[in-house]
Amino acid sequence: ATASLASQGTANIWSCASCHGDKGEGTQTVPRLAGLAPAYLAKQLHDFSKGTRISDSMAYVAKSLSETQITELANYYGAMSSPSGAQPALKGDLARGEKLALSGDYSKNVPACFTCHGTSGIGVGAQFPGLAAQQPAYIAHQLAMWAGGARHNSPLGLMAGIGKALSDEDRRAVADYLASL
Ligand code: HEM
Ligand code: HEM
Repeated sequence: ATASLASQGTANIWSCASCHGDKGEGTQTVPRLAGLAPAYLAKQLHDFSKGTRISDSMAYVAKSLSETQITELANYYGAMSSPSGAQPALKGDLARGEKLALSGDYSKNVPACFTCHGTSGIGVGAQFPGLAAQQPAYIAHQLAMWAGGARHNSPLGLMAGIGKALSDEDRRAVADYLASL
C-alpha cells in the first residue's frame, strides 16, 4: 500500500513520485528523500502540517496523510538507497563551500556544517539530516527560508542563525559543494 501511495497516489493525494521522482531522488528545488532518516522525514511531514515549515504543496500533502501513512512513507523512503544524481548547479565557489562545511567561518559565527551533519555530511541520527548529494537549489532555498523565517522548525533554532549569517553567495557555495559529494 505504501509503495502504491508513493508511486501512484490516491484519489485525494498526489503521488510522491510525481514531484520527488520514482527513486525518491528529487530534482532542483524538490529534495531527495531516499536514504534520509525515517524519524527526520516524519518530523518534516508533521512540521509541514503544523506550519512551522511553509510549503504550499507539502502542507496539502502532509495534512492529507494519516499517522500510519506518515510512518510508513518515512520508513519507505528512509530504506531506499540514495542515488547521487545531484550536481553543482548554482555557480557556487566550491572552495568556499568546502571551507564552510569543514571549518565554518568564525568571523560570521558560522560553525562547520559537519559538526552537526556528520563527517562528509552523511547525517547523524534522527535529528541531523544528511546533506551530501542533496539537490543544490533545494539546499540554498532552505537556508534562505530559515533566514526569512518561513522555516522555523529546527531544534533550538540552530539553523536560523546560520541561515541569516550566510550571504547568498555563501549559500550557493555550500549548496554546490554538498551536491558535489
Ligand atoms: C519536501 C515528503 C509529495 C513537493 C518534502 C519533504 C518530505 C516530503 C519529507 C522534506 C524533505 C527534507 O526535509 O529533506 C513527501 C511525501 C509525499 C510528497 C511522503 C507523498 C505522500 C509531494 C508532492 C509534491 C512535493 C506531490 C509536489 C506537488 C515538495 C517540495 C518540497 C518537498 C517542493 C520542498 C519544500 C520546501 O522548499 O521546503 N516532501 N512529499 N512533495 N516536497 Fe514532498
Ligand atoms: C537541517 C544546512 C550547520 C543543525 C539542515 C538542512 C540544511 C542544513 C540544508 C535541511 C536539510 C533538509 O531539508 O533535508 C546546513 C549548512 C550548515 C549547517 C549548510 C553550515 C553552514 C548546522 C550546524 C548545526 C545544524 C552547525 C548544529 C549546531 C541542523 C538541524 C537540522 C538541520 C538540527 C534539522 C532541522 C529540522 O528538524 O528540520 N541544515 N546546516 N546545522 N541542521 Fe544544518
